[in-house]
Amino acid sequence: MNTLNHLAIIMDGNGRWAKLKGLPRTAGHYKGVEVLRSITIYANSLGIKCLTVYAFSTENWKRSEDEVSYIMSLPKIFFASYIKELMENNVRVMIIGDREKIPSETMRVIDDAIETTKNNTGLILNFAFNYGGRDEIVRAAKAYAKDYADGKKTDLNEESFKEYLYTRDLPEVDLLIRTGSEMRLSNFLLYQLAYSEFVVIDTLWPDFNNGVLDQCIEEYQNRKRNFGGRDETKSH
Ligand code: FPP
Repeated sequence: MNTLNHLAIIMDGNGRWAKLKGLPRTAGHYKGVEVLRSITIYANSLGIKCLTVYAFSTENWKRSEDEVSYIMSLPKIFFASYIKELMENNVRVMIIGDREKIPSETMRVIDDAIETTKNNTGLILNFAFNYGGRDEIVRAAKAYAKDYADGKKTDLNEESFKEYLYTRDLPEVDLLIRTGSEMRLSNFLLYQLAYSEFVVIDTLWPDFNNGVLDQCIEEYQNRKRNFGGRDETKSH
């Protein structure tokens, strides 16, 4: 059995799903929010400790103003509808990313949810929101350089560098799922995904459900993880 403590998801395909149905892209994002709610509850019931979802990247600002402002309103829609259920299920909310550029009203709603759920001990629902992997690494390097200059840190290694990443308190990412069939990382968790297993599926995020998650986990369970060591079961 491979342990599954930390699941990360690139929730892609909302726009394509909407287009296929003749709906505006925002309808895909709205359906995506409902799917996220049910997957959060299901992942928690499976005993997964952390679910990190790519909700908005540092590159997503390039989208139309209307779409960006709609995505910025999603936390309000999500938490207004589901905070009670998240509390009942002992889910804790966290966020990773650059908070500075996020509109203050959106940040207020997210911070309220973080505060309300801070003592919950079940699944951590971690939103990557205005998140970019390269940005995270550069920030970490700058913070380390400052601590070095101030004489607070002297030895930089993989373990000490991790303390400067947004994910410092979270377990290693075991599995990354990307919906919507694209085979790329799109600047998501570049440092953290070094030895994670990667499952890409054609299902668009608004069509994702518990059964599809089960199939992804089954595929993950069939993977032989060796973290760069030799796989003794291979003949060559
Ligand atoms: C990618 O699909 C999806 C996003 C950029 C937004 C994802 C956000 C959610 C599913 C909801 C997050 C919830 C909260 C509470 C913030 P796309 O638009 O790139 O789809 P496409 O590739 O088909 O165009």
